[in-house]
Amino acid sequence: MQKFIVEGGSRLRGELPLQGSKNSALPIMAATLLCHGECVLENCPRLTDIYSASRILNCLGCRCTFSDNTAAVDSLSVDRTAVPEELMREMRSSIIFMGAILGRAGECTVSVPGGCELGPRPIDMHIAALRKMGIEIHETCGGILCRASSGRARGAKLSLAFPSVGATENIILCAVTADGETVINNAAREPEICDLCSFLRACGAEISGDGESRIIINGKEKLHGCRYRIMSDRIVGATYLAMTAATRGEIILTNACVPEMEPFLSVFEQTGCSIYTGENKIYMRCGTRLKAIPDRIRTMPHPGFPTDAQAVLMAALITAEGTSVFEENIFDCRYRHTDALVKMGADIQVLGKVAIIRGVPKLHGANVEATDLRGGAAMVSAALAAEGASEIRQICHIDRGYEKMEEAVSRLGGKMLRIG
Ligand code: EPZ
Repeated sequence: MQKFIVEGGSRLRGELPLQGSKNSALPIMAATLLCHGECVLENCPRLTDIYSASRILNCLGCRCTFSDNTAAVDSLSVDRTAVPEELMREMRSSIIFMGAILGRAGECTVSVPGGCELGPRPIDMHIAALRKMGIEIHETCGGILCRASSGRARGAKLSLAFPSVGATENIILCAVTADGETVINNAAREPEICDLCSFLRACGAEISGDGESRIIINGKEKLHGCRYRIMSDRIVGATYLAMTAATRGEIILTNACVPEMEPFLSVFEQTGCSIYTGENKIYMRCGTRLKAIPDRIRTMPHPGFPTDAQAVLMAALITAEGTSVFEENIFDCRYRHTDALVKMGADIQVLGKVAIIRGVPKLHGANVEATDLRGGAAMVSAALAAEGASEIRQICHIDRGYEKMEEAVSRLGGKMLRIG
């Protein structure tokens, strides 16, 4: 199994181009199933989750190929509607292929993607919404058999109990070719939803209201292919900003999606970092010890503070002056990284969904194991700020969302190696 060896003590300094967004590329790759033709996706990140999605597409009869950061998907001859369980289990977000296959063929067989490191990942809202769209759904032991009773999904007026990103995506993917109009109330407002809708409009879909709580979709018979540039990854951007802050360095992030990163730029400014932004560029400098954040940091659906940035911000604040308090409101167990940070010398107390971070003057290296994608990134960040060397195992979690993290960190002057 591969691992990272990190030598702490270097301040990160330099310029880094931001990779394409994993959480935008995945639903867009699923959406290519709806297009009768070829789609060319630029700025597509090279990640293990992206390769899992390409295996699902190829299994359904598409032809998905990569050239550097460009993916080409030819969906002219989609001839299957079932995704094998082993492919569904490779990643949690495989469930959004359900809506896309239904939107293409009116039927699909998938399996429950299962829980993950963040706790149980139910899909009750996905299922309830699709049933309202005329989809008959039978859940057998682990398998989910879906079929539009009239051969094609029908538009419906839907209200989500919670603005679920995945449920909103699944509904959109099924509704763009459904018969009639679909209205989604309390829809997720994340930027990745807007990127998916922009892609679908480029393929001929009729969608409005994305980015707000009410999205309206007028179903079309067929969609065509297109060439599309995927947005940058705001969470990866937050990660490298947090690593820079943790090591009191300075960074210029290029190819950045500045407006979408506002929720955490303001948070980093509260820690005392200086931030200047320009046309898709972010400059941040952190010369002195960070200040703790006075107000409770509550993770909320967009436009609130994103849950995906919680762990990496925490890693920057464990050596800040003062006490910071986090409240994780999206996932049941998204503090699994705290044990590793404590092992490096952090002072963290977890009480249910609240984590209290008392800043310590310094950290020391340790041997730790990545628990999940963003928790693993937080461990790398803490290791970069620590005195001495750290070993981080189970880095397959990190590779799911970060393109060659060791190369990005080394480019910024950090000492980090991939071993094995
Ligand atoms: C997406 O996951 C992202 N993944 C996650 O990013 C992100 O943390 C999450 O949205 C929240 O922003 C991708 O886009 C691939 P949800 P998703 O449905 O769609 C509960 C990362 O680090 N829920 O908005 O699974 C659910 O259990 C990943 O890149 C139900 O109860 O998130 C969770 O507690 C991690 N029933 C909450 O809602 C449902 O039917 C939010 O889930 C659906 C969700």
